[in-house]
Amino acid sequence: MTADRIVRPGLEGVVAAQTRLSSVDGEAGELIIGGFPVETLASQAAFEETVYLLLEGVLPNARQLTAFRGELGSRRACSPEILRVLQIAAAQKIPAMDLLRMAVGILALGTDGETSIGDDANAALKLVAVFPTIVAGYARLLGGLEPVPPRTDLSHAANYLYMLFGRAPTPDRVRAMETYLNTVVDHGLNASTFAARVIISTQSDLISAIVGAIGALKGPLHGGAPGPALDMVFEIGEVGRAESILREKIERGERFMGFGHRVYRVRDPRADVLAEAAAQLYATDADKKLYDLARHVERTILRLLEEYKPGRKIQTNVEFYTALLLHGLELPTDLFTPTFAVGRVAGWVAHCFEQQKQNRLIRPDSEYIGEKGRHWVTVTER
Ligand code: COA
Repeated sequence: MTADRIVRPGLEGVVAAQTRLSSVDGEAGELIIGGFPVETLASQAAFEETVYLLLEGVLPNARQLTAFRGELGSRRACSPEILRVLQIAAAQKIPAMDLLRMAVGILALGTDGETSIGDDANAALKLVAVFPTIVAGYARLLGGLEPVPPRTDLSHAANYLYMLFGRAPTPDRVRAMETYLNTVVDHGLNASTFAARVIISTQSDLISAIVGAIGALKGPLHGGAPGPALDMVFEIGEVGRAESILREKIERGERFMGFGHRVYRVRDPRADVLAEAAAQLYATDADKKLYDLARHVERTILRLLEEYKPGRKIQTNVEFYTALLLHGLELPTDLFTPTFAVGRVAGWVAHCFEQQKQNRLIRPDSEYIGEKGRHWVTVTER
């Protein structure tokens, strides 16, 4: 096989696109989003500023930001058709990521002008704006409560928390949610972003690309890890039990959710950003004991990974502190991955537009390793 026909399972090390959106340096543990280190952007920006940055390439000035907030705010409402789907799905207790995939798939349904989709530019704003409404509305229905209609006077992050809990959130909580959404908004050519770019590269539409991306994000090797990560901390329960439970797990061949990454060989910089945000949140109003336990679990896992997987350089990833932060915000575990999607959808649409501008159909090769020259045998003779 010639050098350019080397098989790379998982496409590891293959550069399939150029992007101005984010840069992931796995050796240095560095993430740049729209030119800013994640540490700066995550803790400073309102989520709307980050979305604008990804879509327009620059930060908005005050006037542009107000206008952009208005554009998103006016697109927050769900159509009655989607609300109906949420109700049917809640009655069947459909998992939230499956519901999100279904609801986005029918986003174009709905007759009134306010909820119609229009061109890709409009669809992009609608997608970013409506994700929180779908997720929060569904969470409430699952809990036996009525969905809370969106407010246009609140920021994106504040309105999401408002729709989840039915009361205006404190500034600390809004900041924690802004920081979370900014941190996960984009991350190079991760699996869900790649899925979206593959779909849009066929000149398909934005909604189809985002539906595909939701499906990719759902898996536990991508966005589905934070729930199990928190379950593990709960299962351990107290500091004294960590070592024995975790040792048993790794000896059984289990993977620790929230650890390891295809690209990062050092600590995921997003873990530190979220750990700091979680520390602030837990210092003021969440359960500090749980935070201390989680830090102990993290230290124990890193020590065991060093012992059982020496040289593998497996470090804490974004999901471990996602779990802690979102739990501190009182989100139930089954909303962790959908909330990841609430942030990441902005990255997905920005990547789709980038792909459209420099489009080349994404179509890798495969190496055939099956049989050749078989002889046909009729069905009665097999
Ligand atoms: N816990 C225990 N062992 C782990 C591990 C984890 N979280 N992550 C990787 N390993 C081990 C594997 O068992 C394997 O060991 P082996 O060679 O002895 O069999 C080795 O490290 C390499 O694993 P591999 O699956 O090839 O690495 P990858 O680069 O494909 O893995 C992930 C990346 C994210 C899929 C992997 O680290 C993982 O499954 N993590 C847990 C899920 C998670 O947190 N996902 C969210 C990612 S942001």
